Parts: sequence; structure tokens; C-alpha cells
Amino acid sequence: MHTPFMNMTFCVRTFGCQMNKHDSERIAGMLEGLGGLMVDTVEEADILIYMTCCVREAADTRLYGQVASLKNIPVRSGSPLSKRIVAVGGCIGQRDGDELTKKLPHLDVVFGTHNLASLPHLLQAAIEEGGHQVEVLDASSSFPTELPTSREHSWAAWLPITIGCNNFCTYCIVPYVRGREKSRPIEDIVVEAERYVAAGVKEITLLGQNVNSYGRDLYGSPRFAQILKALDETGVERLRFATSHPKDLSDEVIAQFGSLRSLMPALHLPAQSGSDRILQLMNRRYTSAHYRQLVSKLRDACPDIALSTDIIVGFPGETEKDFMDTARLVDEIGYHQVFTFIYSKREGTPAASMEDNTPHEVIQKRFDRLVDIVQAHAFEKNQLDLGATIPVLVEGSSKRDELLIAGKSPKNQTVHAPVPAGKTPEQLAGSIVNVRINEAKTWYLAGDIVE
Ligand code: SAH
Ligand code: SF4
Ligand code: F3S
Repeated sequence: MHTPFMNMTFCVRTFGCQMNKHDSERIAGMLEGLGGLMVDTVEEADILIYMTCCVREAADTRLYGQVASLKNIPVRSGSPLSKRIVAVGGCIGQRDGDELTKKLPHLDVVFGTHNLASLPHLLQAAIEEGGHQVEVLDASSSFPTELPTSREHSWAAWLPITIGCNNFCTYCIVPYVRGREKSRPIEDIVVEAERYVAAGVKEITLLGQNVNSYGRDLYGSPRFAQILKALDETGVERLRFATSHPKDLSDEVIAQFGSLRSLMPALHLPAQSGSDRILQLMNRRYTSAHYRQLVSKLRDACPDIALSTDIIVGFPGETEKDFMDTARLVDEIGYHQVFTFIYSKREGTPAASMEDNTPHEVIQKRFDRLVDIVQAHAFEKNQLDLGATIPVLVEGSSKRDELLIAGKSPKNQTVHAPVPAGKTPEQLAGSIVNVRINEAKTWYLAGDIVE
């Protein structure tokens, strides 16, 4: 076996979305296959890889602080390398390429989102020849799923069905750093899913920036409903997907929420705004009325469905009226969970050149008002499960208390329960247990395991 990374340790630090997390699993799979040993801390790592995100400014600047502070961390004793090798990949790598080595001269390797497979040889070149090894490509020649994977949990798998995005929402950098949408052939997806199910995977999450348009590039029309059906037939216990663009969510997929055995009753449907004027400026290509109609169809098909969404506050030119339209939508729909973001200007996107003169304090106040609405609904929604017995897929011990297990309900709520006598959370991880709920908070449910 070719093992260039024998006796070397590596650590992958991941920011951003599930696409990055999944890419990190591929990197771990590749490097382990070449003899490397994955470790958890920077101190222990001979090779350190950052998988970066630039969707908002906060994620962007965090990288610089982290890489700069590395200089003070010595190489581990016993390392075969005289210096720690530092690589930056993901979306900042793709966007900035060579520029990164100017801002961060002690970086060794820069790679992008289209060439994960090049990482081993870039690292090897950095180890053997030194200097800056930079490779950023325009588009990928092969789908990254052809690479081996080292999954974080043995019972759950992320399965990318598309990469890239064609939507060009005016605030968003993703299409520029992930490229155009490319779907993976249906047969490949099914084969990978079958392999996971045979290996004991309980939950598969299909990934794509807009899964609803899956297949448009390959087959001329979207085939997402077919994918869901085919995956249900693999026998997988739990099926989820992210993310879903409201303009492409079809009636066929909506109907599957009531009928497909494995499809979990939870949907993340980013609204971004409740103001039609802002939605248009965002190039979202739906109206708030269309969004409301989707929600009502979803609730007809599956009355118990838990909805979550993303909302941007403070898009350029947002008025108090626009904000109130958003607040009203969020209040009216009553989400289980809302991810709220303050608009962050991304150079190179159309929104970056739109007039934006709302003071930050005004936007912050709107944001805080929205968060209050969001939390009130999250709390209220969770109360509905008091007294119910819910199947929970155990993930391990709770961060709150090691004597509690933590897991996920079908509606994707976090559920805590005391560890049964004679068991450890680790032993239960990956199994589905029934929990009778006796406590419902804003962020989690709690109860006792029952037979
Ligand atoms: N493709 C997915 C995820 C995109 S990024 C989707 O369309 O939903 C995740 C979220 O980040 C977006 O839904 C949006 O709410 C937020 N986001 C993207 N760009 C942003 C920006 N410039 N400022 C603030 N939030 C942003
Ligand atoms: Fe960004 Fe819009 Fe594509 Fe989502 S759909 S990744 S928000 S451009
Ligand atoms: Fe961030 Fe790139 Fe995902 S910018 S949100 S890691 S696609």
C-alpha cells in the first residue's frame, strides 16, 4: 500500500455548511487511506487542514485569527516533520487562491472546492519541496463522492446529490465559490445509499444547495421525487434532505411528506424574507404568498411536519415595513427553528453594490425583535410533544450532562434522557430508543427511555 503519510497525524478544522463537513469527511478518508492518523487537536497535528466558509464576514475573518495564532504552537514531540504543515481549503481557498499566501505567508497549501483529490499530492509537495503549494480549479472534473469517506458517525451519512448552485441570490457568494449546479447520476446515488444501509447506517441526509432542482442538468427536468422514492426503497430508516429552495419545491415532493415511510416530518425551507419587494431584490423568484401556500400544502400533506427556515435581517434598503412583513410571516407560520442572520456584504455579489444606509443599531434591534418571536414559537412548538413517546436516534452523551443521552426526534428536535442503568451513552449511540417526553424547553425536549 502507498502510505506517504505513515506516522503523520492530521487534524481537519471545519467551518460552514454540511457540504464542507462532508468534504472534510472525504479528506479524512483519503488521508487515512494513505497512512495518516486523524487527531482532534492542533497541538497533536503534524498536518492541519482548515475547511473554510465565506458565506458571511464573521466566518471569513475567523480563519485569519486562527491561522495567525498557530505560530505559537510548537510541533508535537515525535513528529516526523520539522514544521507543522498548514493547508487551507474550502470556500475561502476557492475564492482567494494565491492571495491567501500573501496575507498568511506561513501557509503551505491552498486548495479549492473543486480539487479535494489533489490535496494529498499538494501536502506531499509541501513536505518534500517546501514553498507555497497552491492549486485552485474552475470546475471539478469528477464528483467528490468518488473519493473514500471517513464518516463522523457510523450510523448517519451525508450524501451529496448535487454540487454547486445556479440560483445567484443577490446576497450570496456560494455560486461563485462552488460553481454551477451539477447533479450526480441517480444510479450512483442509490448504490452509495445501499452500501450505507448495508453497513448499518440509520439516517441518510441528502445534500445540495437546492436539492429540489436535482436532475435538471442531467435529465432535462428535476427528478428529486424519484430520488426520494428510490432511497426509501433501500430500507434506510430515516431520510432527510437540505436545502430546499421554495421556488422549486414540487407538489410531488410535498405529497411524499405524508406518504414515504422513511421521510422524516421535518423540512428546512429558507424564506429569507417576508417582504415581496426584498424577495425580488434578493432574486429569490417567489412571493411571500407562494411561500405561504407551500406551507399550507405541506401541513395538509403532513399535519405534524416541523418547519425550519433561514431569515436575513438588514438586506440593503430594508425598511421597517419590509421587516414587519418578515416578522409577520415568521409569527404566522410558527417555525420549530429559525436560523437568523444579519445581512453581511460579500464582495462580488450584486447586493454588494446596492444602496445600504440603514444604521447598524436599527438592524440589530430588528434582529433582536425577530429572535424574540422565533424563540417564543420554538418553545410553544416543543410544548406540543409533552407526554408523547418519541423514537429518538441516539447520538451520544449530552453536552449539558454526561449522564444524559442526546439524540434526535423525527422532527429533528434535540432530545435528552437519563442513561439507563448498566449502559453508557456510547453503547446506545446509533440506536433508536423510545423516550416519553416530560420536559419541553426552547432548544430541547427531555424525558425517560421507555420500552
Ligand atoms: N443553499 C442554501 C444555503 C445557503 S447559505 C439555501 O439556499 O438555503 C445558508 C444561509 O446563509 C442562507 O439561507 C442565507 O440565509 C444565509 N446567507 C447567505 N448569504 C448571506 C449573506 N451575505 N449575509 C447574511 N446571510 C447570508
Ligand atoms: Fe446561495 Fe441562493 Fe444558491 Fe442558496 S440558493 S446557495 S442562498 S445562491
Ligand atoms: Fe460556507 Fe461554502 Fe457552505 S461559503 S455555507 S462552506 S458552500
